[in-house]
Amino acid sequence: MADLDTLRTRLLADVAAAADLAALDTARVAALGKQGAVTQLLKTLGGMSPDERQVEGPRIQGLRAAVAEAIDARKATLDAAALDAKLAAETLDLTLPAPATPSGTVHPVSQVMDELAEIFADLGFAVATGPEMETDWHNFSALNIPETHPARAMHDTFYLQQGIDAKAAGTADERATVSLLRTHTSPVQIRTMLRDKPPIRIIAPGRTYRSDSDATHTPMFHQVEGLVIDRGITLGHLKWTLETFLKAFFERDDIVLRLRPSYFPFTEPSAEVDVGYTKVKGKRVIGGDGDGPDGGWMEVLGSGMVHPKVIAACGLDPAEWQGFAFGCGIDRLAMLKYGIDDLRAFFDGDIRWLKHYGFAALDVPTLSGGVGVAA
Ligand code: PHE
Repeated sequence: MADLDTLRTRLLADVAAAADLAALDTARVAALGKQGAVTQLLKTLGGMSPDERQVEGPRIQGLRAAVAEAIDARKATLDAAALDAKLAAETLDLTLPAPATPSGTVHPVSQVMDELAEIFADLGFAVATGPEMETDWHNFSALNIPETHPARAMHDTFYLQQGIDAKAAGTADERATVSLLRTHTSPVQIRTMLRDKPPIRIIAPGRTYRSDSDATHTPMFHQVEGLVIDRGITLGHLKWTLETFLKAFFERDDIVLRLRPSYFPFTEPSAEVDVGYTKVKGKRVIGGDGDGPDGGWMEVLGSGMVHPKVIAACGLDPAEWQGFAFGCGIDRLAMLKYGIDDLRAFFDGDIRWLKHYGFAALDVPTLSGGVGVAA
């Protein structure tokens, strides 16, 4: 009996003294392992008389349980201490200085979006956003493109399975069922008119999607939408705004615009806008009269006066409110301004391309400092 008590005291002391998990495991093996002291004692039970076993059995089992419990408790303590030590060692020192040579660059698309926001903020426009996964209603119907309209087919839409399933099940609520990737930023016009009271002045830059892929088209591309809704808005306001924008963007006063009559279901009248370029040593440079001797025209955006049906679809009275809208490819703007000739390279993520065409992160475009800081 005295032997068992001595053993218990020694084993528990060993467990308590274990300074780390390895030492604790050594103590565990010494007590409860195959050759361990407690295991050896348990084996002696087989050779005892039933009376002896009745007394010794519970005592030895009690010792085993006490040691096992002490080991668990010690392990919990050591685990907690190990975690604390790890957390203390892994703190992040946010006071470390920045690297001498910053290595990241701002993608030309992000740069142009920042430039657009800067130019239009100066004209009193806010930046609006909308979801890239849209409903049929916001992307088409509210924009005066009914289900049977050929423009739906022309947009090479990526449809989402959930919308296809809802249609098949007959549960599609056109205004609520998210069913496609937006094919243009024009649904942000709808969302803005539904949310805000006029007067409205917004631009909406963002990603758009069409199932189209070749040298000049990628399935994902970027557009910027512009929308103005107010009383007494005319085509003159549209032309002045676009001219002011393009002069600021290309940083030239000799920007000449050509408005060509066109058709969009959501604007009436509609105009496609070309900007004049001049050939300098064989290269097209934006600026100058496109009808001049070395000139030509480049299409840069679609625009028009917001169709009364679109204004009405958003719950506004077209007799009171008018407006203009425009939509413009951002990738194309970036290519024209920064002399980049391959669209697909925009989305390859090639670090050499990014280093060459990217912008320093701290060269934020400002109107006073110039929105077109050279790469
Ligand atoms: N959403 C049209 C397109 O993607 C562009 C546009 C926008 C035209 C607004 C007119 C007004 O082609």
